[in-house]
Amino acid sequence: MSTAGAPLVGIVMGSKSDWETMRACRDTLREFGIASDCRVLSAHRTPAAATAFATEAESRGIEVVVAAAGGAAHLAGVMAAHTVLPVLGVPMVGWSLDGLDSLLATAQMPRGIPVGTLAIGKAGAVNAALLAVAIMANSRPELRQKLKDYRRQQTDKALAETLD
Ligand code: RP5
Repeated sequence: MSTAGAPLVGIVMGSKSDWETMRACRDTLREFGIASDCRVLSAHRTPAAATAFATEAESRGIEVVVAAAGGAAHLAGVMAAHTVLPVLGVPMVGWSLDGLDSLLATAQMPRGIPVGTLAIGKAGAVNAALLAVAIMANSRPELRQKLKDYRRQQTDKALAETLD
């Protein structure tokens, strides 16, 4: 599937160490022909660049921001504070607590600045892409059809499984 054209999704992550997980988000978007702009941007290591990315995302044609971070995972919240675009948070499995710390830090936004939080780790990375596609499909009938095809293929695959 071609992903030519300007990126519609910004995927930011706090560290290169998150890329092994977040590659699944980029790859899932590619299955739908959606280009993404993937960056290492941290709320605490690169605060100015992170806020600039969020502030400029809308004018660059980005429609959804996916933000992944681990530990005291405030990246998605910082993104959401600087844009009204939908921000989807993916909690990373960190160095302790199996990602529960990241989940709570990402999900527990105070009222007024929402972050749509997905599951911890790779399931969340894939689902963030699928949810981004669903959001963009509201104004793109061809994308909505692709999403229906994806679901049907998933169903067919499950029903065709055989067990030893
Ligand atoms: C967070 O700290 C990153 O998002 C990453 O999940 C975690 C660990 O980062 P590294 O120490 O591996 O760079 O900011």
